Amino acid sequence: MRNALVITDSNVSRLHKLDAAKTFPDKGFDGTHLLVLPAGEETKSVKYLSQIYETLVELNYTRSDAIIAFGGGVIGDLAGFAASTFMRGIELIHVPTTLLAMIDSSLGGKTAINLPSGKNLVGTFYDAQTTHIDTNYLSTLPPKVFSDGMAEAIKHACIADASLFQALEKGDFSMEYLIAKNREIKEAFVQLDPQDKGERMKLNFGHTIGHAVEQYGDFSRYTHGEAVAIGMYAVTLASERNGMTAKGSAERVKNVLIKYNLPYELEIPPSIFEKTILLDKKTSGDSINIIFLEEIGKSSIKKMLKHSLLSFFQGARDE
Ligand SMILES: NC(=O)c1ccc[n+]([C@@H]2O[C@H](COP(=O)([O-])OP(=O)(O)OC[C@H]3O[C@@H](n4cnc5c(N)ncnc54)[C@H](O)[C@@H]3O)[C@@H](O)[C@H]2O)c1
Ligand SMILES: [Zn+2]
Repeated sequence: MRNALVITDSNVSRLHKLDAAKTFPDKGFDGTHLLVLPAGEETKSVKYLSQIYETLVELNYTRSDAIIAFGGGVIGDLAGFAASTFMRGIELIHVPTTLLAMIDSSLGGKTAINLPSGKNLVGTFYDAQTTHIDTNYLSTLPPKVFSDGMAEAIKHACIADASLFQALEKGDFSMEYLIAKNREIKEAFVQLDPQDKGERMKLNFGHTIGHAVEQYGDFSRYTHGEAVAIGMYAVTLASERNGMTAKGSAERVKNVLIKYNLPYELEIPPSIFEKTILLDKKTSGDSINIIFLEEIGKSSIKKMLKHSLLSFFQGARDE
């Protein structure tokens, strides 16, 4: 007897059903169970992690059973963390239902939950054995959630693939191409640097400022994708004005963000901007790694003193 617990959120469960035995005929699932959690970032918490563990125990799950994460990045991160720790690790299957989960969070093995003191502070590296991509799920995505995923797609194109960037500029691509290309790009970075200590850091393009923007907006005014969009444009404008980036790149980034309904303007007052970056728990010491574009499709990592950031980004404000 082999079972699978499908973990999902209230929105996904309302809109979609997953027949695990039918979707994964080779896995030999005899029985499946369903756990529906509230939708939203707050669910990535110790409370719901514990609810997953209790459910697995009640259902007598053992190491030969599996967890299926059926949802966006929240469910993927949380269910992935549960799978990596329950009985020291049970099989994990991802069935991502948001664009972001399909091209980003279901890849690379990072799992996480949030603590009251910060996002993603507890987590593991744990790869899914199987990831099942079905673009039909995207048809029910709210436009803002779709744009959030597009921000990460634009990021991938910026740092690694000029031809993907051109396709995004023209708006001329299929969803299948978009997903396959983006997964390929992320996978290549992960393979080069599974533990995220070198090349993989390039995936943080736009994210340092993005985190400051998210924090400034109390994690409610801007979505993650919107904040990253603002971050990508700000860093590109700054690096271009500092002579590090090919001329015209910032303008192209800005236009592609507009095309996919993403913001680009940095609205944080300089003093608050500096404080949030200096207090960022994820960076220690006096310096910070800034990811910038040499040109569209080619990125570099530059170690910068935190205190010089303000003057660096000053160039990203005065139009
Ligand atoms: N592990 C990683 O490497 C990694 C990378 C990037 C982001 N993340 C994490 O991913 C999370 C964000 O992921 P997300 O943007 O997918 O958020 P999410 O999981 O909260 O999904 C966004 C919203 O869309 C709804 N939804 C999901 N699928 C839907 C569908 N098919 N139709 C209609 N509605 C649907 C959800 O209920 C939710 O309201 C964050 O917690 C972030 O930290 C992890
Ligand atoms: Zn991101």
